[in-house]
Amino acid sequence: MKKISILGSTGSIGRQGLEVIKSNGEKVVALACGSNIEILSKQIETFKPELVSVSTEENANLLATKYPSVEVVWGREGLIAVAESEADILLNGIMGMVGLEPTYRAILKGRDIALANKETLVAGGNLIMDAVKRNGVRLLPVDSEHSAIFQALNSYSGTRSTSEVIRRVILTASGGPFRGYSKEELENVTLEEALNHPNWSMGKKITVDSATMMNKGLEVIEAKWLFDLDLSQIDVHVHPESIIHSAVEFVDGGIIAQMGVPDMKVPIAYALNYGERVSLGEGKTQYTDLFEIGRLTFEKPDFSTFRCLAMAFAASEEGKSYPVVLNSANEELVNLFLKGEIRFIDIQNNLQNVLEKHQPVELSGLEDILAMDQEVRTKVRRKIW
Ligand SMILES: NC(=O)c1ccc[n+]([C@@H]2O[C@H](COP(=O)([O-])OP(=O)(O)OC[C@H]3O[C@@H](n4cnc5c(N)ncnc54)[C@H](OP(=O)(O)O)[C@@H]3O)[C@@H](O)[C@H]2O)c1
Repeated sequence: MKKISILGSTGSIGRQGLEVIKSNGEKVVALACGSNIEILSKQIETFKPELVSVSTEENANLLATKYPSVEVVWGREGLIAVAESEADILLNGIMGMVGLEPTYRAILKGRDIALANKETLVAGGNLIMDAVKRNGVRLLPVDSEHSAIFQALNSYSGTRSTSEVIRRVILTASGGPFRGYSKEELENVTLEEALNHPNWSMGKKITVDSATMMNKGLEVIEAKWLFDLDLSQIDVHVHPESIIHSAVEFVDGGIIAQMGVPDMKVPIAYALNYGERVSLGEGKTQYTDLFEIGRLTFEKPDFSTFRCLAMAFAASEEGKSYPVVLNSANEELVNLFLKGEIRFIDIQNNLQNVLEKHQPVELSGLEDILAMDQEVRTKVRRKIW
C-alpha cells in the first residue's frame, strides 16, 4: 500500500487529494495545514495519520490534547517534518511560496513529489530541478495544464529525447471572470466578481491569480522548468470552455491534447498513481459529453490589458531574482486585495512598479531565495512600490 503525506490538506487540492486517496485505499502518513483545525480534526479521525502540523503552537496544543496518539508539530519546522515523513510520495497542495522549503527538503530525503504548489517552481525552479536530478526522485505535476502536457508527452514512445521532438506547448487558460474586459472596465471590478471563477472552484489566492491572468504567468514559468522548455516554446491560448487542459505540438505538426470536464481529481490521481489510470470511484468519475459541449473555442491572450501575464514572461526571461520578486510581490498584493486594501487593478499596477524598481541579483541557493522573499514582502506590506 502506497504511503502519502500532504501539505495543505485542508485546502481545495488537499481535500480533493484525500478523496482520491480514500477511493484508492492508500495510507495517509502525515498531514499539514494552516489554521483550519476543524477540517483537520475530521481528517485525523478519518485517515488516522501518525503526524500532523498546524501553523501555531496554540492549535498544536489543542490537537495534541484531543488526539494523544498523534504526533502534533507546528510552524516552519512542522511543515518540514511532514514533508520529510516516511511517505512514498508528498502531495504539495499548500498555497504560496511557503511550499518551497518543505518541497526541497522532501526531495533531499528522496521523496517523490506530486506538485500542485506552482509557486515552488516559480521561485526556486533551478534549485528544485537540480535537486530532483541529483536525488533521482519523480516530480509529478498536479496543475491541470502541466498534467495535460505530462500526459501528452507520455504518448511519445520514439527514441529521440522529448526536447528534440517538442515544437511547442499550448498552455490553455479559461480567461477567468474578466475575459474580454477593457483596461477601463478592470478599474471597477469587485472582490466578489474576482472570486467568481467561471469553471474551477479553487482557493482564493489562485482564483484571484486566474482573474489577473497571473496564474497563467506562474504556469508559464512552471512549464519552463518542468519540461525544460524555452519561453518561446510556450504559447498561451485562452480557451473559455476549459475542456482542453493543454497540449503538446510535436515537430511533425501533430498535436496531442488532454481533454475532459474540469476536475482536479483527475490530475491528482494521475500524479499519485505515477501515470496509472484509475477510476475516481463509483459514481465519482465525470465523463465528458462532447455533443453537449458542442464547440471548443480559442482566443489570443490580451497581454496589454492583463499585464501580469506579460510581466511573468519578462521576469522569467530576465531571470536572476526577478521571478522571486514577481511571485512574492504578487502574493502580498493579492493578500492586500483580499483584505480590501487595494483595488483589483492595483495588483498589476503596483507589481509593475515593484519590478521596475528592482535591482536584480543572482540568488545562489535556498537561503538567498528566502531572504529575497522576505525583503519583497516587507516592502509590499508597507506599501512601498
Ligand atoms: N485549487 C486548485 O484547483 C488548484 C489547481 C492547480 C494548482 N493549484 C495550486 O495548489 C496550491 C493550493 O491551492 P488551493 O486552491 O488548494 O489553495 P487553498 O484552498 O487556499 O488551500 C491552501 C492550503 O494551504 C494551507 N496553508 C496556507 N498557508 C499555509 C502556511 N503558511 N502554513 C501551513 N499551511 C498553509 C491552508 O491551510 P488552512 O486553510 O488550514 O489555513 C490550506 O490547507 C496553490 O499553489 C495553487 O496555485 C490549485
